[in-house]
Amino acid sequence: MLELHDLSRSFGGVFATDGVSMSVADGELRGVIGPNGAGKSTLFSLVSGHLRPQRGRILLDGQRIDRLAPHQRARLGIAIVFQGARLFPEMTVWENVAVGAHARTRAGAAAAVLRLPRHRREESEIFRSALTNLERVGLADWADRAADQLPLGQQRRMQVARALTAQPRLLLLDEPASGLRAGERRELAALIRSLHDEGITVLLVEHDVAMVTSLAERITVLELGRVIAEGTPDEIRRDPAVIAAYLGTEAAA
Ligand SMILES: Nc1ncnc2c1ncn2[C@@H]1O[C@H](COP(=O)(O)OP(=O)(O)OP(=O)(O)O)[C@@H](O)[C@H]1O
Ligand SMILES: [Mg+2]
Repeated sequence: MLELHDLSRSFGGVFATDGVSMSVADGELRGVIGPNGAGKSTLFSLVSGHLRPQRGRILLDGQRIDRLAPHQRARLGIAIVFQGARLFPEMTVWENVAVGAHARTRAGAAAAVLRLPRHRREESEIFRSALTNLERVGLADWADRAADQLPLGQQRRMQVARALTAQPRLLLLDEPASGLRAGERRELAALIRSLHDEGITVLLVEHDVAMVTSLAERITVLELGRVIAEGTPDEIRRDPAVIAAYLGTEAAA
């Protein structure tokens, strides 16, 4: 479904993504791991269109998408939850989620905030869609709360609901579990698994290796912008290059 060929992007002469090639099958749940600064977030931004590659190609269902703007890729079914994604604190949970429906438009979220039909929301298609997606992530009862009153675990699920409003086929999740407690992590993992079961292709960047290995069918390991290993969780755990680059510190702990 998704193919990356020799994808490169540098900042000030230093390559954050350096000749990355990988293929993700339709419906797959792929983990992407690697040390801090390995280029994981850069790779996601290249796929979502928020960054342009200097070299290489990105294909979705065999069609090149690397020249398309983010909203055009969103329309093709690509949604991203950015690392440390912010919420709109003065807005309710449903309003935060409704904003996601505008990922597919050029005007985007900022315009959406100004145009939200606060007083006619019951009639609104966007409201219904936001509520449906809040139900999917288990937050329907929280729709009218102020978003910043939610515990962190629920804020993260709200961010996922926002991404789902764009009806993605490919969902990019960049460290959705960072800072969450064990129980919140388990809930988030269950949510990610249920989205995978619905047929959504998921790319998951996560430092919690236990979570990635329990969820992902295959894992791609990045270091210094390059793919140093790819395989099943078992293969990755045993890979000497991975142990040296990344898991070594955990194995020693
Ligand atoms: N906008 C930018 N401008 C300059 N340098 C950048 C920019 N974005 C990323 N980099 C650099 O590119 C490299 C890869 O960064 P990236 O954020 O993709 O890593 P990461 O694997 O997501 O790390 P982390 O696990 O800490 O989130 C780092 O050296 C980073 O400093
Ligand atoms: Mg990152």
